[in-house]
Amino acid sequence: MRYLIGIDIGTSGTKSVLIDEAGTVRAVAQEETGISTPRPGWAEQDPEAWWRATCRTLKKVLSASGVDPRTIAGVGLSGQMHGIVLLDKDRRVLRPAIIWADGRSAEQCRSIYERVGWDQLARWTANPVAPGFMAASLLWLSEHEPDVFERTAAVLLPKDYVRWRLTGEMASDVSDAAGTLLFDVAHRRWSGELLKALDLPADLFPKVLESSQIAGTVGRMASGKTGLTVGTPVVAGAGDQAAAAVGNGIIAPGTMLSTIGTGGQLFAPLSGPVYDPQLRTHTFCHALGDRWFMMGAILSAGLSLRWFRDRIAGKSYEELSGMAAQIPPGSEGLIFLPYLIGERTPHMDPNARGVFFGLGLHHTLGHLVRAIMEGVTFALRDALLIFRELGVLADRIVISGGGARSPIWRQIQADVFRTKVVRVHGEERAGIGAAMLAGIGTGVYEDFEDACRKAVRYEACTVPIAANAARYDRLYDVFHGLYPKLKDDFVRLEV
Ligand code: XUL
Repeated sequence: MRYLIGIDIGTSGTKSVLIDEAGTVRAVAQEETGISTPRPGWAEQDPEAWWRATCRTLKKVLSASGVDPRTIAGVGLSGQMHGIVLLDKDRRVLRPAIIWADGRSAEQCRSIYERVGWDQLARWTANPVAPGFMAASLLWLSEHEPDVFERTAAVLLPKDYVRWRLTGEMASDVSDAAGTLLFDVAHRRWSGELLKALDLPADLFPKVLESSQIAGTVGRMASGKTGLTVGTPVVAGAGDQAAAAVGNGIIAPGTMLSTIGTGGQLFAPLSGPVYDPQLRTHTFCHALGDRWFMMGAILSAGLSLRWFRDRIAGKSYEELSGMAAQIPPGSEGLIFLPYLIGERTPHMDPNARGVFFGLGLHHTLGHLVRAIMEGVTFALRDALLIFRELGVLADRIVISGGGARSPIWRQIQADVFRTKVVRVHGEERAGIGAAMLAGIGTGVYEDFEDACRKAVRYEACTVPIAANAARYDRLYDVFHGLYPKLKDDFVRLEV
């Protein structure tokens, strides 16, 4: 029997997943990693903490599974996208990583549009500019910490830093590089034009490989720290979205994935680099060489419920879900806009904020919880309607993340999307996707289809209930109309 390992450098934690070649999970280990917010709206993490968590979780999965490390055929990586790790010429980390959730670079986003122009930017990158993306964070650094910028000799994405520690190879993969806003997504290479337009030296960035290509092998030092055998192949891997899609079997056009984790994403594979001319959604490279994907990204999905649980309700998710289940669809006239930290799809507006609309004396805690679940799902429906407008369709949607674990949120998704939804058996799909990429790159699996046949199993579907869906259609109209009316007032809030 051969085995595979996927390492997922997530925002809330680092996970290692060990699977066998039949796709069965043999061991999972996870360690939390903190986010520091030196100022409101900033988000930083310590790259060394990712590496320490990687070493410890690898050791744990090897010992918990009892698998001989020499039978690990390959290792794959998945990771939070967009952030920056800065190294000096001696390969020392220069400052904490500025991660995807960081909002400090709104000004730099505006300046990128001004310097490059909307149309040109769309043609080169197929994407809107958003704070926390590598391009914007690097410009912020050059303006606010010029000494650090001057000393920077290499810039890496989070998972690519871990790869470098594992193998000594500096590399990235197309799916993660696509999320830097410095990448020519259509041609799957760094955009020389854009780097020039933004005065960023091309030699700061590593070589870019396809996701299942072998990027290097485990080195001696890393072997000592992780328990992996020297020479074990490590594939390029993928950004967490593409890796999770592979782990959910979402590799072909006509399929779609809705994830409600901290953020929420609607993900659809494409056979070409189609993008939304209004740049309300992202188009990135998929982990398959001839595929791309369209993604709607909402910032506060599960995060909205976590905020409500921790700051307002002080009850467990189970208690809150139980209360929401007593409330009829539509929350008796209560609508929630989940823009707690601004929004990406469809508004691309860092100033937007959360709203409970329609509060009345009859509303209880359960109503507020249900309205949060419904509002998050309406925000994903915004993305779904853009996809449909662009001809990107699916007759059922695979659901993932915490939103797929809750029976009530599963039904809300089926009803709001007006589509059957189904989930994959087992958790940790990004880590499993990364392990599948390792299996494809090392010949354990013939190709992506073979990997999905072995490692992805679907559970029963949840189907829409007609009366709920009709009610949600009407309420979605109200939801959709609220943001344009409030847009200018969000800026006037005094915080
Ligand atoms: C995708 C995105 C998040 C991060 C962190 O665009 O911002 O998925 O990759 O998970």
